[in-house]
Amino acid sequence: MSDASRAVKICLLGFGNVGRRFCELVERKSGELAGDHGVRVLFAAVGTGSHGSLLAPDGLTAAEMLAVAHGGDIDLMLPDPPRPGTELIAAAGADVLVEATPLDPLGGHAAIEHIEAAFARGMDVVTVNKGPIAWDYRRLADIAAANGCGFRFEGTVMDGAPVFNMWESCLPGCRLLGFDAIFNATTNFILDAMGEGRSFADALTQTQADGYAESDPSHDIDGHDAAAKAAALANVLMDARITPDAVDKESVRDVTPERAAAARRAGRRLRVLCTAFAADLPAQRAAPGVRASVRLVELAPEHPFFAVGGSSLAVILHTDLMGDVEVAELAGLPEQTAFAVYSDLLALQRGR
Ligand SMILES: NC(=O)c1ccc[n+]([C@@H]2O[C@H](COP(=O)([O-])OP(=O)(O)OC[C@H]3O[C@@H](n4cnc5c(N)ncnc54)[C@H](OP(=O)(O)O)[C@@H]3O)[C@@H](O)[C@H]2O)c1
Repeated sequence: MSDASRAVKICLLGFGNVGRRFCELVERKSGELAGDHGVRVLFAAVGTGSHGSLLAPDGLTAAEMLAVAHGGDIDLMLPDPPRPGTELIAAAGADVLVEATPLDPLGGHAAIEHIEAAFARGMDVVTVNKGPIAWDYRRLADIAAANGCGFRFEGTVMDGAPVFNMWESCLPGCRLLGFDAIFNATTNFILDAMGEGRSFADALTQTQADGYAESDPSHDIDGHDAAAKAAALANVLMDARITPDAVDKESVRDVTPERAAAARRAGRRLRVLCTAFAADLPAQRAAPGVRASVRLVELAPEHPFFAVGGSSLAVILHTDLMGDVEVAELAGLPEQTAFAVYSDLLALQRGR
C-alpha cells in the first residue's frame, strides 16, 4: 500500500446485504484503491437499526471492520449499543456518509435526516437508499451544492448499472423525454416463478434469501420500490419534482397462479412496468409536468423487456438527441449495488 495514499473515512449507516458487500468489496480492492487511486478507505462508524453500532474515529480498515463483524452474532461483534444515525455521523468525524438503510416508502425519512446531518458537517454523501432522491432530491441537491459537498446515488435505481453516470458522462446536452423500465427484480422473479407453478410465498422467500428483496418485501409487491425509483429517475434527469405518491401504482399481491400460468401459456410474460413521460417540456419551465406509473402488464416476445426476468433490470431512456437508449443489468444482486457505492466513492475522489 502506497504511503502517499489519502485516508478517506466512511460513516456507513446500514450493515445489511449492501453495507456488508461494500465492506467486502473495499477489502478485496484495497490494494488497487491505494495503488491506482491513491485512496485508503477507513471505516470511522458503522450503524445498524437494532444490531449495535461501531464507532472508531481513527478508522478501521475494511479487513479490521469485517473481522469485528464476521465472528458470529453481530450483536456481540458490534459492541456499541445502537445509536441514532445522526449521533454516529456527528461522532465519526468521517469524510463520506454511505447511506444504506432501508427505504421508508412513505417519506424517505431517517435517511433524509442522515444526509442533511452529513451535509451540515461538510461531508460528501453516497446513498443507495432511494427514499431521499425520490422524496426530496431538489432540496438535498441544493444543500449539497451550498455546502460544497458531493452527492451521488447511482445505486438507487438500477443497482450498479450506470444510469446517472452514463447520462452525466455520455449524453451531454440530451433532454430526457421519458422512460420505460423494469425496476423491481423481486416482482420479476415472483411473476415468472408463479408462471412455472411455484407459489407466491415460495418465490418471495427465494428473493429474500438471495438478498434483493426490500427489507420489507411489501414495498416490492405493492409497487412502492418501483414508484420510488421512477420518481428518483424523473426527479434527477427530468427535474420532475414529484414524489412517489404521485406515481400511479399497481400491486402484484392479487395476481393468481392461474393468471401467471395463462400468460405463460400464451407465450407472454407478466411484468411490472414503470413508465414516465414529460407532459410538456417548454424550455422556460423549471419543472416540467411529468406523469409516472407502475403497472402490471403482459409483454409479448417482441417487447425489449420480454427477457428481463429474475434479478435483471432494464430502462429505456427516450431522449431528444440520441433517440432511445437502453441500459440493462443482467442478474443484479447486492454485489452490484455495493459496486455502485464503490464507483460513486471513486467519482467523489475524482472531484465529481
Ligand atoms: N439489496 C439490494 O440488492 C439493493 C439494491 C439497490 C438498492 N438497495 C437499497 O439499499 C438499502 C439497503 O438494502 P439492504 O438490502 O442492504 O437492506 P438490509 O439487508 O435490510 O439492511 C439494512 C441495514 O440497515 C440497518 N438499519 C435499519 N434502520 C437503520 C437506522 N435507522 N440507522 C442505521 N441503520 C439502520 C439495518 O439494521 P438492523 O438489521 O439492525 O435493523 C441493516 O443493517 C435499501 O435502501 C435498499 O432499498 C438494495
